Amino acid sequence: MAQNWTPNSWRQKPIQQVPDYPDAAALVATEEQLATFPPLVFAGEARRLTSALGNVAEGKGFLLQGGDCAESFAEHGADTIRDFFRAFLQMAVVLTFGAQLPVVKVGRIAGQFAKPRSSNVEKQGEVTLPSYRGDIINGIEFTEEARVPNPERQIMAYRQSAATLNLLRAFAMGGYANLENVHQWMLGFVKDSPQGERYRKLAHRISETMDFMKAIGISAENNSSLRETDFFTSHEALLLGYEQALTRVDSTSGDWYATSGHMIWIGDRTRQPDHAHIEYCRGIKNPIGLKCGPSLTADGLLELIDILNPANESGRLTLICRFGHDKVAENLPRLIRAVEREGKKVVWSCDPMHGNTITLNNYKTRPFERVLSEVESFFQIHRSEGTHPGGIHVEMTGKDVTECTGGARALSGDDLADRYHTHCDPRLNADQALELAFLLAERMKGGRDEKRMVVNA
Ligand code: PEP
Ligand code: CO
Repeated sequence: MAQNWTPNSWRQKPIQQVPDYPDAAALVATEEQLATFPPLVFAGEARRLTSALGNVAEGKGFLLQGGDCAESFAEHGADTIRDFFRAFLQMAVVLTFGAQLPVVKVGRIAGQFAKPRSSNVEKQGEVTLPSYRGDIINGIEFTEEARVPNPERQIMAYRQSAATLNLLRAFAMGGYANLENVHQWMLGFVKDSPQGERYRKLAHRISETMDFMKAIGISAENNSSLRETDFFTSHEALLLGYEQALTRVDSTSGDWYATSGHMIWIGDRTRQPDHAHIEYCRGIKNPIGLKCGPSLTADGLLELIDILNPANESGRLTLICRFGHDKVAENLPRLIRAVEREGKKVVWSCDPMHGNTITLNNYKTRPFERVLSEVESFFQIHRSEGTHPGGIHVEMTGKDVTECTGGARALSGDDLADRYHTHCDPRLNADQALELAFLLAERMKGGRDEKRMVVNA
C-alpha cells in the first residue's frame, strides 16, 4: 500500500482547479452523504481492467477510450447512451480487425462531469461570471445564479452515473453488443458514407471472417464472447472531494479503490507532482491515466511515473499524449526514449483532440484532418522507436452533431452552428469517429502486411 497515504491526504497539498463553494457546511454534508452510498464499480472489475491494460502495455492489445468531453444533466437520455455505445462498439470492431489484437473498451462516461478551465472567469460583453466547471459543479447558463457551485449537483452526478452504468451493463451483457449486430450497423455506415468505397474493402474482409466463423460453427448463439463484451468506464478525477467520498477499501485485498469509475485520469493542468491530484491518485489501486502535454519534460514524466507506479506494474499507468498535430513530432520521441531507457511499463495512448482545438466563426472546433494527422504521427513515431502505439483517446458522441470540421461529409465552418451541442469541447460525431477507426485500421493493417512481407522475403 502507498506510504503515508489516506483517502484524504490530498487535503494537505496545494491544489489547482478548485471550485469556490459558498457554503462550506453544505459541501461537507454532501460529501458525508456520498460516502454512505454504494460504490458504482467493484475493485475486481478495476483489477480486470488493469490486467487487460497490462496486455496493451506489452503490445498484445489496443485501448479504445472515448466519449463526451463533459456529460450533462440535460442530455441524459437512453438514446444518447445507446447511440454512443453503438458508435463506440463499431469503432472497436474495426480497430480489432485492423490491429488483429483485442481492443480494451473504456468509455469517457458514467462520471465524466468535472471540467478543468484555463480561466476562472468567462466574459460576455460587459458581464464577467465564474467559468462553467461541469454539471457536477455549476450550471452552463450564463447567469450569476447558475454559475454558483452547488454541492447538491454531486448527488445528481452520482445518480446519473449509476443509471448510465446500469444501462451500459445491460447493453454489454444483454445481447445488444452481439458482434453480428455491430457488424450490420457497420455495413449500414459504409453503405451511407460518401467515402464508403474507401472502407468497403476492409468491411468486406470483416464480413468474410464472420461468414467463415459461422461456417465452422462459431456464432453468437453458442459463443458468449460474440454475444457479450467487456466495457469499462472512466473520467477525469478532478473533483477530489467527490472522489474521496467514493473511495473504498476492497475487502478481499485490503487495498483502496476509487469506486466512481473503473479508470480515472489526471488532467494536463493538475499533474504537479507535489500537488493534491497526484497525491490522491497515487494511493488508489485503479488503473490511472496521465495526460501528457507539451509542457511535460522527460524528467518530469519519470518523476510522476515513480510516484504513480512505484512497482512498475504493467497496466497501472496509461500515458495519454495530447500534443497537437504540429507538436507531436518534437515532444513524443523524447518521452518515449526516457521511458524506454528506464524500463518503465506504460500504455502509450494518443489523445488527438486537446492539442488541436481552434476557434472558427466563434465556435471552438477541431479539424478532422488534424485529429487524423496527430494519430498518424503517433503511430509512425512508435514504429520508428520500436514501441507499441497502444491506444487512442477521443472525444466523440453517437449523435450527428456538427462540432468538428472535415471528415467524409466535409463539415465546414459554416455548418458548425447547425448542431453544436457540446457542453465543453467539440466532439467527433458518429460518422467522423467511425471514419477515424477505419482510416487507422487501414494503416495498422498496412503496417502489418509490410512487416509480414519483410519476414517472408
Ligand atoms: C479533457 O480530457 O477533457 C481535458 C480537459 O484534457 P486535458 O487535461 O488533456 O486538457
Ligand atoms: Co475535453
